[in-house]
Amino acid sequence: MGKRQRGITIVLSEVWNKVYKSDSSFFGEEPSNFALLCFNHMKTNHAKRVLELGAGHGRDAIFFASNGIEVEALDYSVIVVDILDKIRKEKRLPIKAQFFDVKRPLPFPDSYFDAVYSHMLLNMRFSLYELHFIFSEMKRVLKPKGLNFFSVRNYNDKCYGKGVEIERGIYDINGFQVRFFTEKEIQDLMEGFELLWIREEYEEPVTLYLVSSRKA
Ligand SMILES: C[S@@+](CC[C@H](N)C(=O)[O-])C[C@H]1O[C@@H](n2cnc3c(N)ncnc32)[C@H](O)[C@@H]1O
Repeated sequence: MGKRQRGITIVLSEVWNKVYKSDSSFFGEEPSNFALLCFNHMKTNHAKRVLELGAGHGRDAIFFASNGIEVEALDYSVIVVDILDKIRKEKRLPIKAQFFDVKRPLPFPDSYFDAVYSHMLLNMRFSLYELHFIFSEMKRVLKPKGLNFFSVRNYNDKCYGKGVEIERGIYDINGFQVRFFTEKEIQDLMEGFELLWIREEYEEPVTLYLVSSRKA
């Protein structure tokens, strides 16, 4: 990443840096239910190498790596990259964490991962153009038939329609900029993926669609 781009990314990530500075385990120490669910599918499909996008302080990356999966974790908060690196050393886990803005081409070769996983990343402030680009990159780095698991906030979320609409479909809610999805909006992004299932889940305090798909 160039110096200027890195500067812009650091400014954009300031909201999350503040969160993690005040609480380095903001999302809790336990893995999410979504991670538990996806791990079963990873195991059944013999996934060995997984990319996590927007990994945060790593509650899910740590769980995957503790269960024998090699994890590459990307996040644009410098704070969490340091946290994850420390945990990797202390616990000797197969996690490589990198400071990275997912609006850029992913720093991996084609067909490199068995699975890509992201929990509550794609509902951040991304334009539709950026979302299509992120999906095309996820497809590129996945092996043929590789799995793509992601979760996004949906229209049943109690914050939907609250706050200030700052861009079409994106709301500023107390400084957090969030996009909410319908099933149709998810399907429109999934060119080149076969949708396996979508289910709704409440993860205090948000309502999510959990999505499982496979590179077609
Ligand atoms: C809602 S948090 C979820 C964290 C983690 N997935 C979890 O569930 O514990 C979203 C994460 O995405 C990261 N993020 C947001 N926009 C990003 C971007 N453009 N590139 C990389 N990471 C980003 C934030 O720093 C934050 O850690």
